[in-house]
This record gives sequence, structure tokens and C-alpha cells, in this order.
Amino acid sequence: MSKWNSFNRREFLSTALGAAASFSVLPSGHRLLSELLEPQSKFAPFQFPDDFIWGAATAAYQIEGAWAEDGKGESIWDRFSHTPGRVKGAGTGDVACDSYHRYKEDVALLNALNLTSYRFSISWPRIQPDGSGAPNPKGLDYYKRLSDALLEAKIRPLCTLYHWDLPQKLEDAGGWPNRDLAARFTDYVDVTVRTLGDRVSHWCIFNEPWVFTFLGYGRGIHAPARENFAECMRATHVVNIAQGQAFRAIKAINSKLQVGTAFSMSNCEPATKSDADRQAADRAHAIGNVWFIHPALRGEYPKAFPGENPLGLMGVGVKSGDMDLCRAPLDFLGINYYRRQLISAVPPGSGEDATGVHNFDGHEGPLTDFAWEIWPDSFHDLVFRISREYKTTPLEITENGCSYLDCPDEHGRIPDERRVQFMRGYLHALGRAMLHGANVRAYHHWSLLDNFEWAEGYAQRFGLTYVDFRTQKRTIKDSGHWYAKLASTGSLT
Ligand code: FCB
Repeated sequence: MSKWNSFNRREFLSTALGAAASFSVLPSGHRLLSELLEPQSKFAPFQFPDDFIWGAATAAYQIEGAWAEDGKGESIWDRFSHTPGRVKGAGTGDVACDSYHRYKEDVALLNALNLTSYRFSISWPRIQPDGSGAPNPKGLDYYKRLSDALLEAKIRPLCTLYHWDLPQKLEDAGGWPNRDLAARFTDYVDVTVRTLGDRVSHWCIFNEPWVFTFLGYGRGIHAPARENFAECMRATHVVNIAQGQAFRAIKAINSKLQVGTAFSMSNCEPATKSDADRQAADRAHAIGNVWFIHPALRGEYPKAFPGENPLGLMGVGVKSGDMDLCRAPLDFLGINYYRRQLISAVPPGSGEDATGVHNFDGHEGPLTDFAWEIWPDSFHDLVFRISREYKTTPLEITENGCSYLDCPDEHGRIPDERRVQFMRGYLHALGRAMLHGANVRAYHHWSLLDNFEWAEGYAQRFGLTYVDFRTQKRTIKDSGHWYAKLASTGSLT
């Protein structure tokens, strides 16, 4: 373990606070460590380890554009964004950041930011336009060129196989609630990794499985815009099976490839100290944070629903032998973290779902321009909790970021001081979690570029780099310069 600023981990654990923080003495719970820390120590200078990986993240549909080029098929996000009324301002990913043509410029940006890891995603309909069958060589070539450019720049490609852009043909055949999709997905993973596995050694199978099943099939505010809770729950099970099968397919190609998934997570904090709210917060954690981890690492679903035989009641559709299919000893867990959730108990069935949970945003901290609350302690507590629950699996922060609409000033500079403060807060929280024992090896900021923000279209800007969407000119924001310095020294003040 390399240099820590004030004291190393072993020394820390021998202090009173360290002892309280050690895994064995803390009960499962919320905000305990943050409550123990003095406010001034939250910003104590922190030195990240020398081998810590600094990166940025993007996703195919949000940046590539070229939506119908070189044989690419239609995805559910093409269909969704081309349907009037679905996306704010009628935004689409047709052009987005045009990264399909400008990827070299984007690799140069990563280089200028001193980053050593780039998390990007592969568009399934570029590889299999209809979702099955022979791969499209032009699609594969694009990702070969991109990966080669990254390797040339000494940047690790961290490639996500599914960041939400399902081929529309597969949605027409039933989408994720259809069990056949697990086999289709495994086939796509197999052809892709067979071609790229000689260059790309780190893979995320899915991006945020809870978000694309819940928002896409349950709430209908993301593609494919279905609103059916039973279908959503079935979809989650098919995704869990697909995760297990994809994991085995990748390992069969090369057992040395490192495979994980990027999970969306929120620290679930009980709204009051009542037992009912605490239990509801645990159920919210089960469904929202670890619903796709527990089956992979432990071969069972976590307890997310009150009552007897809850999985049967929820119609998840678990058949005999399924939980073995879901098993996948993931090499790392990716955490995408944006904000906490406050949780109160409601009678099952009367809340947003059958978990008997009502969740709402915290509003003690300041808000970003997307109105997401800033509460770095919750990041510390979540990372610490996950590292304790899945002790032996290393963590990578695969996304964390904020939307601010700062524009170029009269000199063309983008003074986004609020993003710098956001990053300082969350990275200090991460550093504290590491001091307390969390095994975190990487941080990827969302995002490298301002881009297409799903149903929000172009109304949000998450980039370290400002994109002028009329000209495609990229300009590194002040926060990007700040992050570049951190990435080169690892020294957080
Ligand atoms: C995450 C998504 C990512 C981006 C950020 C802001 O949920 O994974 O694509 O939209 O939110």
C-alpha cells in the first residue's frame, strides 16, 4: 500500500475511531462513521495511492451520434428519442457529440486530463443490427480503432457491454422481460469479446441494471417506455441470468479478463429512527443497490419484499436452477453514485412498488442544476457499507458527477467552480472510506463530455469538457483542469 497522507490504514485502525470503524464492530446501518467524524477532518489533505486509477466515463448512445451509419441497426433509444414528446426539447442521439467521427479528439482530451482509464460503452446494434446473427465488421472495427487509440495513449479501456441501447428488434420480440434475451445477450457478448478481448482487459457487463429495468419497464420514463411493474421484475431476473451467462462466456474466452458490472447506488437513509423506517431502508438497499449483486455473488435474492414467498408473489419468475445461472464471481463491483435517498415505510402495495418503501430526495444539502442534492457523507457511507458487505471484491467508482449549466465566459473559459467543489466533497468522502478500509481502486468522473442526458436531452451538462453542440467544439472546463492536476499527483487538498 503506498503513501497515505496523515497515517496509513493499519495505523488508523489502531486509533479509537479506527477501531470503531473496523468491519467487525459496526452494526449495519447508516451515517455512523460520518457522524463520528469532526467536520474539519472531512477536508483533511488526502493522498490517493500511487496505483489509483483516474478516469472518465461516457456511453455510446450519449456521445457517438452516427445513429444509422456503417450498418448500425435501430436501438430502443433511437425509437424513444424519435417519438415526439419523449425527450425534453425533442433531443436525440442522432449526432450527440459526434464521437463516432471524433474519437481521436476525445482520446486526446483524456490525455490532456492525465487520465489513465476511459469507461465507454459498445452499442449492441452496431455489432448486431437486429440483435442476433453475424456481427457487422464495421461496428467492430470502430471499437477496435477506439481501443487501439486508447492503448496507444496508455489509457486503460474499460468497456461496458450494455449501456441501455437494446436493438429495437429484440424489444419487438419481448425485450428484457423475455427470457430468451439472456441467450441473445450472451451471444452478442461472445462475438464482441472474442474480437476485442485481445485489446480490452476490463469489462462491465451492464450499466445500472436497476435503472434500465425500473425506469424502462416499470415507470416508462426511459426506453422502451413500458409501465408494468410485473414486467419490470421479470426483466430484472432475466438480466441477472444474462449477467451470470455473460460472465461465463467472457471467462471462457480468456479467464484473465476482469469482469464486473456498473451498479447504480444510493445510500438509503431511514427518514426517522423508527424501526419501520429502518427496515424499509434495508429493503430499499436490497432492491435498489444489491438486487443484481447478491444473485451473482451469493446465488440468492436479497430480502427486498415483506411477507412470505415474496419472490413468487412479485412474479420475478425464478425457476428451479436459475439461481445457479445467476451466479458470477465478479472480479470487481462498479459503483455509480450520484445521490442519497431518504426512506420511509408505507404499507406494501401503496408505495411506488411492492417493497413497502417510499423514497424521496434529501434536501439538506445544496442542489446541482439538475436539482440533485449534494451530500458527500452519503457516498462515504455507501462505499463503506458495500465494501463491508462484499469484503473480498474490489470496488471501482464507475460514475460520479453533477450537472451544472456553466457556459464559456467572454474569454472562452468555463469557470465551473461548483463542479470543483462537488468533486472535492465526493473525493474527500471516498478518501475517508478508503482510510476506513474500503478497497477502492479507481474513480471515473461522469462525464468526459457534456452529452445527451437521456430523457433530459441536452438540458443537462455533466462534462469535464464543454461541448458546443452547434460546432462540436470541445473546451476543457476549469473543473477538468483541476481534475487533471489531481490525476497527476493523487493529492487531494
Ligand atoms: C447515470 C447513467 C449515465 C448518466 C448519468 C448522469 O444513471 O448511467 O448514463 O446519464 O446517470
